[in-house]
Amino acid sequence: MSRQWRIAVVGTGVVGELHVRSMKKLPNCQLVCVCDLENEKGKKALDKNSVSVPIYTDLLEMLKKEKLDSVHVCTPSGDHKGPVIAAMERGLNVLVEKPMEIQPDRIDEMVAVAKKRGVKLAGVFQNRWNEANRALRQAVRENRFGRISWAGVITPWYRTDQYYEEGGWRGTWKMDGGGAVMNQGVHQVDLMQWIVGPVKTVSAYASSRIHPKIEVEDTLTCALQFENGAYGTYVSTTGMWPGGPVRIEIGGEFGTAISENGLKRFEFKTPLPGDAELLERLSPAKAKDSGGGKAATDIGLDLHGKNMLAVYEAWERGEEAETFGPEARKAVAIIQAMYESARKNGSPVDVR
Ligand SMILES: NC(=O)c1ccc[n+]([C@@H]2O[C@H](COP(=O)([O-])OP(=O)(O)OC[C@H]3O[C@@H](n4cnc5c(N)ncnc54)[C@H](O)[C@@H]3O)[C@@H](O)[C@H]2O)c1
Repeated sequence: MSRQWRIAVVGTGVVGELHVRSMKKLPNCQLVCVCDLENEKGKKALDKNSVSVPIYTDLLEMLKKEKLDSVHVCTPSGDHKGPVIAAMERGLNVLVEKPMEIQPDRIDEMVAVAKKRGVKLAGVFQNRWNEANRALRQAVRENRFGRISWAGVITPWYRTDQYYEEGGWRGTWKMDGGGAVMNQGVHQVDLMQWIVGPVKTVSAYASSRIHPKIEVEDTLTCALQFENGAYGTYVSTTGMWPGGPVRIEIGGEFGTAISENGLKRFEFKTPLPGDAELLERLSPAKAKDSGGGKAATDIGLDLHGKNMLAVYEAWERGEEAETFGPEARKAVAIIQAMYESARKNGSPVDVR
């Protein structure tokens, strides 16, 4: 890889600090500066990683003064569009944290600006770089399950009341865009549609049972119909102490597979030579963290790094990243259908 990308991180809280850290390891990325409304947050993220670059509290000033190629937007979810569009309007490429925004129409606006300015826009969905999830997707693409009967995804996580109180924006419709699904579960909604295929209709129930102070859901359960005819079940919660790994299960006429902090099951009527080796290598016993189950900080840094590397490699080739705007939009559209169904007490809603 020849080019060095000159990058700024905007929003240096929990995940912005992770971007600062990841960048130290990526050969093609150079952190040029950071921006946070609170100077102290910028300083903390830089100090933690022994990095010294300018800290801005005014995004427009930073965009005016610094020579940049791209900006990583790590601000609260309902405040992605503003910084993303400001950077793209100045001809910069943007990598934006999940969810790309909290409403599909806001993502459409961002995609339109990227097109108009001829710049690239990509999202973060680092769990697509988890090898067990990739193995499930590959098996679907190779038709190894035959007709899929059912696919289920459960995110049985736990977050403390303190987690929601810190940051202020978490657990609010305005800035978080939802709760256990839009914030924590968006990864798994994306994986579900990425692995199994487009979701046609959803029927959901949701409420906040364990964290009564938050206005959004801490638990949602949903029945799904995929466009390929398969049925599905989706559950996301931040109310299941102590918090366990995400489980994705797919089964059909020729096989069953489970991704749960590794590859737990990968069994087909017609086994292939590499299957046993894959199961052994990706065994859940070898997992190093809970994948975010116990706390927001308990996520493997490697996957973020892999996601970033893939984005910059694609951009270097002049191609769109795998998680480009319209792709990152899909999970948000499914989630909005789930919320609409939950408001209608489980009535089926088509994904738009
Ligand atoms: N990929 C993942 O696994 C993952 C994990 C956690 C969070 N996230 C996402 O990252 C984003 C941030 O989450 P977090 O937990 O790091 O939040 P946080 O509250 O810890 O950090 C957000 C930071 O942004 C700053 N900020 C707010 N508005 C700003 C603005 N307009 N300009 C500059 N700085 C601004 C705040 O001062 C704060 O320091 C969210 O969209 C969240 O969904 C992704």
